[in-house]
Amino acid sequence: MSLLRESSQGVWGSRWTFVAATAGAAVGMGNLWKFSALAGANGGAAFVVVYLFFMVLVSLPVLIAEVVIGSRGRANPITASQNLAREAAVSSWWQLMGWLGCLAGLCILSYYSVMAGLGIAHIDSIFTGQFKGLTAAKVGEAFNQLLADPWQLALWHSIFLALVVLVVSTGVERGMARMARIILPVFVLLLVIVVLYSNRMGDMAAAQQFLFSFQWQAITPEIVLAALGQAFFTLSIGLGAMMAFGAYMPDGRSVAGLLSAVVLIDTAVALLAGLAIFPLVFSLNIAPSTGPGLMFVALPYAFGHIEHGELFGGAFFTVVALVGLSSGVALMEPAVAWLVERCKFKRLFAALTVGLLAWGLGIVALLSLNEWSDVRWLDRSIFNWLDYISANILLPLGGLLIAIFVGWRMRLEVVRDEFYKHSGVVFVLWYWLLRYIAAPAVLLILLLPLYRWLV
Ligand code: PHE
Ligand code: NA
Repeated sequence: MSLLRESSQGVWGSRWTFVAATAGAAVGMGNLWKFSALAGANGGAAFVVVYLFFMVLVSLPVLIAEVVIGSRGRANPITASQNLAREAAVSSWWQLMGWLGCLAGLCILSYYSVMAGLGIAHIDSIFTGQFKGLTAAKVGEAFNQLLADPWQLALWHSIFLALVVLVVSTGVERGMARMARIILPVFVLLLVIVVLYSNRMGDMAAAQQFLFSFQWQAITPEIVLAALGQAFFTLSIGLGAMMAFGAYMPDGRSVAGLLSAVVLIDTAVALLAGLAIFPLVFSLNIAPSTGPGLMFVALPYAFGHIEHGELFGGAFFTVVALVGLSSGVALMEPAVAWLVERCKFKRLFAALTVGLLAWGLGIVALLSLNEWSDVRWLDRSIFNWLDYISANILLPLGGLLIAIFVGWRMRLEVVRDEFYKHSGVVFVLWYWLLRYIAAPAVLLILLLPLYRWLV
């Protein structure tokens, strides 16, 4: 059987386009909203240290494995995993990898869009100076009012999804990669400026103490699971998005170095976001466990108190929305690529279909922030369940399947071939990490709650 060596949708122009597009898919609301909320709720340093540990030992190897699958399979995640399972002569059950991924992508896109929509809402309110001189309490009140209004949330959620559909329907190369090359550097620059402001206005010492002074005893199984989930979520791995990206990889390029750069960029952005948000959190006496409010209170407060804050803050949130947009595109890509390649949908129609499904699920998610906030099960709202199941269970499960498939099922020559003549040591190190560290670690952590539930 011959594999499709050229994806039907073209290849990346250059390796930098590939890095920019991949980093664009990785960097997003997850680095701002989710990283700060999780670090705040899970005791700061205990979470951050475990998270960094997983990034290097688990997420990077799995990211490389995922791109290897994509560049070997040269197709959407479902078709790629079907093809590769056949090539490796293993059970066709392995296509579950692709199906689970599309499901996870759809679930995440739904509530991700609600959060990114909040980002868009802030472009408007900051540009028009609504936070000028407000106290932190007033900014918090404004945010709670926004959360309490389903119509507002639905409006911004719809706008965000419409933008994602627009970009996805124009095609990968043209729509997104070009944009990421410009947006990412600008975003990092603006973020550094916010950190400097935050250093002046806030309590940087308390923030650093909170984020980096680490104690072994503080680690709990919940923190470990949350850190693992975030290490997958933030790199956009475990759902086939990065497979789709690998599928557009030009032949003959080595991936390990390029993907390490992606991990570095994403980690730097998350830590910078922490250093931008937490100094304000501590100087304003906001509880670190507040949740999404952390970023949406601390940052607008800061922009309301610096000179030309409306302009600068408006620009900042515009870039945040654009960065979120490229992540939204990555979330939609697996399912859309499948509909286009397998079901022969037109790209626009495929994007509309996935967009509509995510929109409906997103409406349910946003209603659970207000009208249905008392619909809870085991102390989690619908919104939180969607997030918990997709980020903490589906993504690690997808990552586990990817690690086992590439590490233990694909033929060694095939894997090595996709690695493209990279220095032997790097290949051996990666392969070893994937087989003996990443796969067992994820398996163990996923079984942990099960074990505790049984005894
Ligand atoms: N990694 C993105 C972020 O940090 C979110 C995402 C997850 C995007 C999974 C695509 C797939 O914002
Ligand atoms: Na990220």
